[in-house]
Amino acid sequence: MRIRFNLNGNPVDVDLPADTTLLTTLREHLGIFGVKHGCETGDCGACTVLLDGEPVNTCVMLAAQADGKTITTIEAIGEHPEHGWKQTAGLSALQRAFVETGAIQCGYCTPAMILASGSLLSRDPNPSEADVRQSLSGVLCRCTGYLKPVQAVIRAAAVLRGDPVEPIEAPIPAPSELFTPPEAGETGGVGSGPATELAIRTSVMPRIQVAPGPETRASVGRPEPKVDAVKLVQGKPAFAADIEMRGMLVAKVLHSPLAHARIRKIDASMALALPGVAAVLTWKDIPRVVYSTAGQSHPIPGPLDTFSLDNKVRFVGDRVAFVAAEDEATAEKAL
Ligand code: FES
Ligand code: FES
Repeated sequence: MRIRFNLNGNPVDVDLPADTTLLTTLREHLGIFGVKHGCETGDCGACTVLLDGEPVNTCVMLAAQADGKTITTIEAIGEHPEHGWKQTAGLSALQRAFVETGAIQCGYCTPAMILASGSLLSRDPNPSEADVRQSLSGVLCRCTGYLKPVQAVIRAAAVLRGDPVEPIEAPIPAPSELFTPPEAGETGGVGSGPATELAIRTSVMPRIQVAPGPETRASVGRPEPKVDAVKLVQGKPAFAADIEMRGMLVAKVLHSPLAHARIRKIDASMALALPGVAAVLTWKDIPRVVYSTAGQSHPIPGPLDTFSLDNKVRFVGDRVAFVAAEDEATAEKAL
């Protein structure tokens, strides 16, 4: 199926099966790894892009639904401020604010947060905290939490309006009510109403101890940008799943249905005759390099009793042959 859309200012024309999701199209066919692969069920928001300016979850959208539309991903937002000899405009105000406020831990949710809140700021330059929280509500964050991203968006909004913002030289304090000590007699039990809410919160928040006197150290106790924050705020491929797979063959393993058997002969001719199959490997095709799957003794871990492929299978599921093909369906068929 032919699908055409505008991606980050460039026309895209792809020919894909009709059931291909927009997430798969962007990551696996176009190499856009700033769109993160999370739940695949529309819950986490990591796969957010802007479709005609509105945030959408690409994992629950078909690429065909983007036909004729404009897609913006984090790759179109900001640039690394230091590109060697090349002058760049640097990060966007939102990206800078996420770096400055420490609104990034692992960075998996960060591109989605920046796109979602950027959509808000494009409509409303002076959003309330509630508006900001609402704009981020479709993106789950498992490590930073939500306080600092909200602070980052409010700070970026002020920068974009031209309002003065304080340099961040001391940790941004959390709202004081989160640390209100429990009243005498409060138990922190479960119930309803404001008093109980306070009790529940105070029963789980840690007590904060602040060192007395002025801070004289250069770094300890002071905010420092996270070492990889600039990379993460641009959604650069930083995770194992972001590996570039385009142009690679797909490998599949033929597993033994028998618990113990000698392989006397493998006829791979039918598999090799399939269009798109690049190779079929059996134990005769690879060097016999013995290794151990157990033991860590030095210098030789034992027992040395395993080969990548052998003329003998020792358990149900043991490896019999490898197939390499141009796509997964062909590799599966060749097995
Ligand atoms: S991966 Fe799309 S919402 Fe989680
Ligand atoms: S999920 Fe790790 S920073 Fe949000």
